[in-house]
Amino acid sequence: MNELNDIVASAAQSFAQAATPAELENAKAQFLGKSGRMTELMKGMAALSVEDKKTRGAAINQAKQAIEAALAARRQALANAELQAQLQAEALDVSLPGRQRSQGGLHPVSLTLERIEAIFGSMGFEVAQGPEIETDWFNFTALNTPEDHPARSMHDTFYVEGGSAQAPNLLRTHTSPMQIRHAVQHVKKHLAAIDDGAGMPEIRVIAPGRTYRVDSDATHSPMFHQCEGLWIGENVSFKDLKVIFTAFCRTFFESDDLVLRFRPSFFPFTEPSAEIDIQFVSGPLAGRWLEVAGSGQVHPNVVRNMGLDPERYIGFAFGMGPDRLTMLRYGVNDLRLFFDGDIRFLSQFQ
Ligand code: DAH
Repeated sequence: MNELNDIVASAAQSFAQAATPAELENAKAQFLGKSGRMTELMKGMAALSVEDKKTRGAAINQAKQAIEAALAARRQALANAELQAQLQAEALDVSLPGRQRSQGGLHPVSLTLERIEAIFGSMGFEVAQGPEIETDWFNFTALNTPEDHPARSMHDTFYVEGGSAQAPNLLRTHTSPMQIRHAVQHVKKHLAAIDDGAGMPEIRVIAPGRTYRVDSDATHSPMFHQCEGLWIGENVSFKDLKVIFTAFCRTFFESDDLVLRFRPSFFPFTEPSAEIDIQFVSGPLAGRWLEVAGSGQVHPNVVRNMGLDPERYIGFAFGMGPDRLTMLRYGVNDLRLFFDGDIRFLSQFQ
């Protein structure tokens, strides 16, 4: 019996020493193979008596089962180790950030422009677009600002090549030339109705876009945005401007806690003219008057340059700064941040 125990122990030991499945199969052959030690013992049984065969056979069988169990356990252990090694080798570091494609978004000023268009759109205003390279006529002259007019010096204009000495080309200094451009098209379209006395449908338009002036500091950029507004009809008054602009500001800032002030001012293309200031009743900006737009009743000379009779047609215009509105809405204090293109700043508005 001791012999059998020794064989079992020695099998267990050599199985344990086998480091790979191949080594294990070799070790198995030494015990359970054709000329393995257990097989030899079985063969030796032939000479035994029937009685001895029974007891010896049972003992050998038990030992064989013990060896097989040890073999199975070692096989499993080696298989587990192999799997473990494989998993380790192929391990993915799930803590690494993925290579996802980042999603773009609209620039904060574009968000403001969309907002302006949506609000005025809901009040029946069309949206018009026009050229950024303008002629002297549309930018100044047609807007009641002749060549020797002192108001021209308020604009530090970028002049560009093209045009003539009398009518140079320039980068538009404001969106006001769109008043003329849009009105002239509108009048052309409705000329028959105007001529036969029926009159034309009202002009109600906003014109957002880029504008340019030689100016650069925390609140001025050489390229900036403006949005022009124009409402011309037979019975449009300053009262309408007040109603429209108040509704706009309250919707834009999502607050009824906001008052407007129309402060007398001067623009060559309006008479009378007013700066529009707003004041928040509560919140971080409360108590300060903030200028948001220039405005006024369109000057008769400008109405004439639109191709309309100023005795019949009247209305108001305004020009506001979407960059400024964006700064106020989001609490940004340096305009240049909008145009630096720093994604860390811009992504905060998505
Ligand atoms: N164009 C003016 C500017 O750039 C702003 C402005 C003032 C526009 C009065 C208007 C207006 O339409 O009526 O300073």
